[in-house]
Amino acid sequence: MPDIVISEYMHGAAFEALRSRFNVLLDAELWKKPDLLAEQVRNCRALIVRNQTPVTAALIDAAPELLVIGRAGVGLDNVDVKHAEQAGIVVSFTPDQNAISVAEISMGMMLSLARFIPAADQDTKDGNWQRNRFMGTELYGKTLGIIGAGKIGYLTARRAMAFGMRILAYDPFLTQDNILLSELQAELTDLDNLLARADVVSCHLPATPQTMGLMNRERFGKMKRGALFINTSRGRVVSEPDLVEALKAGIVGGAALDVRSEEPPKTGELESLPNVILTPHIAAFTREAQDRVSRAICEDVARVLDGKPSISAVRSATPKRLAAK
Ligand code: MLT
Repeated sequence: MPDIVISEYMHGAAFEALRSRFNVLLDAELWKKPDLLAEQVRNCRALIVRNQTPVTAALIDAAPELLVIGRAGVGLDNVDVKHAEQAGIVVSFTPDQNAISVAEISMGMMLSLARFIPAADQDTKDGNWQRNRFMGTELYGKTLGIIGAGKIGYLTARRAMAFGMRILAYDPFLTQDNILLSELQAELTDLDNLLARADVVSCHLPATPQTMGLMNRERFGKMKRGALFINTSRGRVVSEPDLVEALKAGIVGGAALDVRSEEPPKTGELESLPNVILTPHIAAFTREAQDRVSRAICEDVARVLDGKPSISAVRSATPKRLAAK
């Protein structure tokens, strides 16, 4: 029976090092087979996942030897952290390791929407040469509204500053004297004010009970007419039917979504709208980010299995379960 179960894609030197020291089961498709997964974790001491494996209370209970859950990524919405903590299991994750990649794709989305790059590409490949059809707008001098000014929001805003954009930020956990906001010359404001003033709204939120469906009909209705909307964070912070309605009404001028309320999504109206760009949750998928994420999680899981404290635990750094044995 494996010591470490990895239920999603993993690669790199740190993974190979882990594999050379422990009995590792890597099955990148295991997240699709919950019954098999529950069987495989029965005797394992570590489980490593990305965002597609639901680490539920039932799965945790099926693994009485489990000491550490490694989440290769930043979002913890697929892990029942509370239940794991109660069971004395360390939950380790990799905040910051993929932040630059997400910020870069957010800028890519912004430029793609403002200049119709995907549509112009397709049209040109279709044999056309329609310059007037793709009259875009500059980002220079426009206002970017960042919803959620954590690491990724901050890095996105910094890049937008280099394009000459003004920054508005909404984040209930920050105050205006925050040093990073000062660096961005950003104005911290309430959500309604941000929505009313921003030419581009970019979401950088975790999925929590407070953020679920935050961008709904009412909030889209408060956006500046024709503003662009980007979500590279979590799909469930957006009500997709309400976004479709706002796009059709011209309230939202264009939207770029890397994340969906259901992943993979069912094909619906969003797919048929011309002013929408959709990508399959690839914001963190760069060689550099994945090298950092894989290394950070593999090394941290090895630390815990070696009896050392985790250096990227969500809460407790050592497995209380071990002490209880
Ligand atoms: C993250 O939460 O780190 C990103 O969304 C990528 C991922 O979940 O794998």
